[in-house]
Amino acid sequence: MSGSERPEPVAGLVNRAAPAGLVSPSIRLHRSFLEAMEEFATEGRGCAGDDSMIGYEIRSYGSSWSKLEGFSDYLRRLATESDTRQVRPGRVPSTTFWWVAGEEYLGRIAIRHRLNDWLLEVGGNIGYDVRPSARRRGHATAMLQAVLPAARALGVDPALVTCDVTNVASRKVIEHAGGVLEDERRGKLRFWVATS
Ligand SMILES: CC(C)(COP(=O)(O)OP(=O)(O)OC[C@H]1O[C@@H](n2cnc3c(N)ncnc32)[C@H](O)[C@@H]1OP(=O)(O)O)[C@@H](O)C(=O)NCCC(=O)NCCS
Repeated sequence: MSGSERPEPVAGLVNRAAPAGLVSPSIRLHRSFLEAMEEFATEGRGCAGDDSMIGYEIRSYGSSWSKLEGFSDYLRRLATESDTRQVRPGRVPSTTFWWVAGEEYLGRIAIRHRLNDWLLEVGGNIGYDVRPSARRRGHATAMLQAVLPAARALGVDPALVTCDVTNVASRKVIEHAGGVLEDERRGKLRFWVATS
């Protein structure tokens, strides 16, 4: 993609006119993605001790994804993670979607196709983040519900979705999706969400 093909900047942080929806990670969202990652970094993501997926990605790709080539590498890596034949040893396949309105990246959500011991205990099948400037507008609630058919199509039913016991917002998001609390383990609440 040449510079002239890049999307024009969106006025304001959120284009309220455009409906939000799930898309596969795409190079067309490069600019907005970088802005969102700046917001996540400002809230401390990517620092040592941040074991979130975004933290890991900022540490791994943050120095290269501002260039198109580096961003393309990152997108290829996401595609590889989704492919059961290419997934790295010790990992389960994981499919990432982005939550997007028009040309604006609002958040991410990933479906782990299977549960290993750690995911069953702590991580769950589905993880998500909404960029700081787009929070408290119902995006996570809508995004989790929107991804359930894709989880179902990947054979995930029910989906295990977990959150920190202190994460009031995420707990509400999971409960809005019909999550049924099983228990608390290692500081995480573990909910089962039907996907069909
Ligand atoms: C948790 C997170 C995904 C919520 O995203 P969001 O788009 O703001 O969520 P929603 O707008 O759908 O809000 C869901 C509910 O939580 C409430 N809520 C949102 N942020 C909140 C906060 N900081 N404190 C208290 N309640 C909050 C909303 O008011 C809403 O309540 P309601 O359904 O009673 O109206 C977002 O804050 C985030 O990305 N946090 C960091 C990463 C994270 O915690 N991911 C989840 C891991 S399990």
